Amino acid sequence: MRSFSVLLTAFLFSCVDKFLGPTPIQSYISTESAIAKAGVLANIGPDGSKSSGALSGVVIASPNTNNPNYLYTWIRDASLTFKVIAQKVASEEDPTLRAKIDQFFLSQSHIQTLTNPSGTESTGGLGEPKFNINETQYTDKWGRPQRDGPALRATTFMLYANYLIANNNVTWVAKNLWPVIKLDLDYVQNYWNRTTFDLWEEIGSSSFWTTAVQHRALREGIALAEDLGQMDVIPGYVAQANNLLCFQQSFKHSSGGYITANTGTCRSGIDSNTILASIHVFDPAAGCDAATFQPCSDVALSNLKVYVDSFRSIYSINHGAAGNAAVATGRYPEDAYYCGNPWYLSTFAVAEQLYDAVIVWEQQQVINVTSTSLLFFRQFISDIGSGSYPASTSTYSTLLAAIKNFADGFVLINAKYTPSDGGLSEQVNRDNGTPLSAKDLTWSYASALTAFAARGGFIPASWGAAGLTVPSVCRSNPGPTASVTFNVYATTNPGENVFLAGSVPELGNWLPEKAVPLSSQNYPTWSATVTLPGYTSVDYKFIKKHNDQVIWSSDPNWSWQTPEAGTANLSDTWR
Ligand SMILES: *[C@@H]1O[C@H](CO)[C@@H](O)[C@H](O)[C@H]1NC(C)=O
Ligand SMILES: *[C@@H]1O[C@H](CO)[C@@H](O)[C@H](O)[C@H]1NC(C)=O
Ligand SMILES: *[C@@H]1O[C@H](CO)[C@@H](O)[C@H](O)[C@H]1NC(C)=O
Ligand SMILES: *[C@@H]1O[C@H](CO)[C@@H](O)[C@H](O)[C@H]1NC(C)=O
Ligand SMILES: *[C@@H]1O[C@H](CO)[C@@H](O)[C@H](O)[C@H]1NC(C)=O
Ligand SMILES: *[C@@H]1O[C@H](CO)[C@@H](O)[C@H](O)[C@H]1NC(C)=O
Repeated sequence: MRSFSVLLTAFLFSCVDKFLGPTPIQSYISTESAIAKAGVLANIGPDGSKSSGALSGVVIASPNTNNPNYLYTWIRDASLTFKVIAQKVASEEDPTLRAKIDQFFLSQSHIQTLTNPSGTESTGGLGEPKFNINETQYTDKWGRPQRDGPALRATTFMLYANYLIANNNVTWVAKNLWPVIKLDLDYVQNYWNRTTFDLWEEIGSSSFWTTAVQHRALREGIALAEDLGQMDVIPGYVAQANNLLCFQQSFKHSSGGYITANTGTCRSGIDSNTILASIHVFDPAAGCDAATFQPCSDVALSNLKVYVDSFRSIYSINHGAAGNAAVATGRYPEDAYYCGNPWYLSTFAVAEQLYDAVIVWEQQQVINVTSTSLLFFRQFISDIGSGSYPASTSTYSTLLAAIKNFADGFVLINAKYTPSDGGLSEQVNRDNGTPLSAKDLTWSYASALTAFAARGGFIPASWGAAGLTVPSVCRSNPGPTASVTFNVYATTNPGENVFLAGSVPELGNWLPEKAVPLSSQNYPTWSATVTLPGYTSVDYKFIKKHNDQVIWSSDPNWSWQTPEAGTANLSDTWR
């Protein structure tokens, strides 16, 4: 009976295709796939048709040079773009792209060595978010560091490394790829517990996306290190991966049914940051695990509903859609960039999360509804209750069909606002759906490709999300210290000595009796070198002491942030 109905369905579908042509979503995907792939390749140097001036392997964010100027290369966008390309190579869909990955590898291994405003290769410079397309540092003011970049780059290179290892090319991986991957993973291990600018480059705090992608990178780093016999790195990566998994749980909103994207802001915290995280950490071997935020987990589905619903009323183009229909989504409801609009990549990400969920449900032949995900599922069956619905039930079939249709709806929303040439900009106007902001955004094209692949049932390789245990106590990781030399030009009377007091324990917490003595070896410059925690704000003052008498330098306090690591040399004059 079952195989008969399958045959009958197949027959009906083929009839539909034959007589009525492809459905709207099929025709959009078949034309847009080719356009999106070409759009990605056009934005990669040295020979991309829209990226003139970009060096070999450099991915431009967009060819747009004015309002906004995106003709730069971001580590995040470039790594996510090459994740798509590496997947096409690893799945043998397009082996010709391998040469591009080799170019990307050479380019990134050079970019890693550039001294930049975030530091050097060994003192935090890997957290620098963007570079000029001629592979020089970008020195203007910016939201830095952004600590997702090294993790994303490592993930992309590990995808490639695992493919090469499977193809008997271990030697090259160990000699060339591993050192570059290890630098990034060491960066994640050392610096994950410091504040970061979020993926939208606006908020310096802790970010769910960044934490989730860092966790993934360290886990797959552990497996790769085992394969390559690099056992010495493993204990450190394991310790910090566990700390990251623990920290990741803390972003859950206490009552809103969603994940708070960034800490310490006055925003709601509803943000496509979290949707993007769920698709980036998709590991089908982990089923619907909530701790790693799998796309079909109850927390991720509840989060998706809250996120999508937050755009229903604020964008005019969504008005009139049924309360459970797909709508255009943006970065976050409070967004004011270009007045706040839907982004193609946000709307595609919602579709992709749903397609990923469908992959797991079909694999496991069951859909579980919990009290956490109840409101998500009630969009499709209004009186459904918590429970486990195996594939033999009509509830399962109804849900699966409705959710696939819901997912397709998001793709069709983007299709509706894709101009006739298929070009994907960054945003579409919230009132009329016309393209807005940067043209030909590489990440928009990449997000179309990954959403289409997920719809086609593409199953990514596992990264080790299955079977993890969240530690019961979350531990922090202060990371490296900085060696700071303080110099002050201060003339003194006989018997007077100069000391340094300040806001951290290393400077005596402002207590004159615990202040650090300075040396007068280069009088009238007094100096001392102190080891301080990296990337920490320090307020300080110099004091002169003579027996029990203390003279403070006058206001204001000196205020300064230590570098991530390494050394610094400060010179002040007594006031
Ligand atoms: C690299 O590009 C930047 C930004 O366009 C430019 O200022 C700089 O002069 C270029 N440097 C080199 C070495 O070409
Ligand atoms: C291993 O892969 C690298 C990168 O593509 C390539 O340059 C090298 O020739 C390969 N070596 C072998 C033995 O296949
Ligand atoms: C560091 O980790 C601790 C423990 O998980 C956490 O409470 C704290 O918020 C983290 N800080 C940052 C900046 O990541
Ligand atoms: C559904 O729930 C059962 C029982 O808790 C669990 O064993 C199974 O892994 C779950 N499957 C999915 C797809 O959530
Ligand atoms: C300097 O720092 C101390 C300790 O935090 C504080 O009491 C004092 O008000 C500060 N001085 C000024 C001028 O801000
Ligand atoms: C630090 O600064 C002082 C004062 O400007 C200078 O004399 C000294 O050479 C510097 N030391 C280093 C290591 O740069």
